[in-house]
Amino acid sequence: MPYPLIIEKKIKNFNKSIQVSGDKSLSIRWVLFSSLANGVSISKNLLISEDVKAAIDTIKKLGIKVSFKKKICKIYGNGINGYRYRKKLVINAKNSGTLGRLVLGLLINTKFPIKLIGDKSLSKRDFKRISDPLSKFGAKFKLNKNKFLPLTINGSNNLKPIKYVESKGSAQCKSAVILGGMRVKGQTIIKAKKSRNHTELLCKDLKLPIKVQSRKNFDLIKINQVKKIQKLKYNIPGDISSSAFFMVLTILNQNSKLVIKNVNINPSRVGIIAILKKMGANISFKNIKTYKGEKNADIYVKHVNSLNAINCPSNLNSSAIDEFLVIFLVAAKAKGVSYFKDLDELNKKESPRLVWGEKILNKMGIKTTSTKNSIKIFGNPSLKINKKIIIKNFLKDHRVFMTSVIAALSFGGSWEIHDKDSIKTSFPDFLKIINLVKN
Ligand code: S3P
Repeated sequence: MPYPLIIEKKIKNFNKSIQVSGDKSLSIRWVLFSSLANGVSISKNLLISEDVKAAIDTIKKLGIKVSFKKKICKIYGNGINGYRYRKKLVINAKNSGTLGRLVLGLLINTKFPIKLIGDKSLSKRDFKRISDPLSKFGAKFKLNKNKFLPLTINGSNNLKPIKYVESKGSAQCKSAVILGGMRVKGQTIIKAKKSRNHTELLCKDLKLPIKVQSRKNFDLIKINQVKKIQKLKYNIPGDISSSAFFMVLTILNQNSKLVIKNVNINPSRVGIIAILKKMGANISFKNIKTYKGEKNADIYVKHVNSLNAINCPSNLNSSAIDEFLVIFLVAAKAKGVSYFKDLDELNKKESPRLVWGEKILNKMGIKTTSTKNSIKIFGNPSLKINKKIIIKNFLKDHRVFMTSVIAALSFGGSWEIHDKDSIKTSFPDFLKIINLVKN
């Protein structure tokens, strides 16, 4: 077992420019779409993490060739019907909810049963939310305790288009149904609560038969059967969810400044920036560019001396869903009581993150009250930690680990943070970049 990370010193003020790894949502989607394309797809700056490697292993098991040279990844797609289904196939999504859920959409036409497994954390997460809509297409599922992994999917040769209402704001549910709809003759219609729209933008960029009508609180998505996907070249921008840790580190540390180059700032992902700005943070974008329908920019962040508490509007929840743990650290330092509500989805992530967010804050000496889906954080602008804090047994949730590192570097104290390897799922270079900012 690797040693825990020990942090006993706060970071000194810094003024740096960094680049974070490629966006995880886009990387996994690029792998899946390329596996169905005709010809060789090429990506630059693909996130090379355990989640993305699991996606690559998955398409390899389905008969797709993949090569890597000097960080350039090539996927040799065999066309939309090019998967080689065979008996006794087992796919391991490891820690990745996005892979496990999205790939099921593509497997609804499998000729043989396929077993989907995952690690301890993924095996605690709900897959009924995916099997329910996908069974309406005609695919058949067997789930552990009717809800969990391992599951078995079997396809049908008589698939029918469906109408589906997605009400959780889950991009994974929405995307699984879009991918399923691509395989089915006729029109699949989805009414989806707003959530990240990378799948839709990629479909549009590839000129697939998709229509998206945006309404106030939801999107209406219509997808028809896809006959052909052209090969795709993609230069993957930085991940806002990885940038979030460095944004918060800068906000919390006196006289510090940071530039994060070429980050994806898709409006459905930048909830953290709206929330932090409402709390008084100084964040701006420069060099905004549109690339393949996605907005990317350099993010400029500066420390500010005073931060306000926030009553966080729940319409920002979906666009900040992966960032709440670090946002809670800003609330810990803000003046007043912050309130975050309607966060039912937060306890359904790689670990129960609302529970873990509160645990970290309490260990830091911050008072909180909470319900099943909300938390009040009593901020302390002069917070300084002088005790030992141990963070362990958090289901190896990468974001719990990285949030704890940011807390240790910002508030002091003596921290022992376990399961360093967890960062390999989403951001293997995290500690390397921390060192770059430190020195
Ligand atoms: C993701 C969607 C979100 C997010 C996850 C990545 C995606 O999950 O939390 O990290 O790439 O579609 P939900 O769709 O379950 O909210």
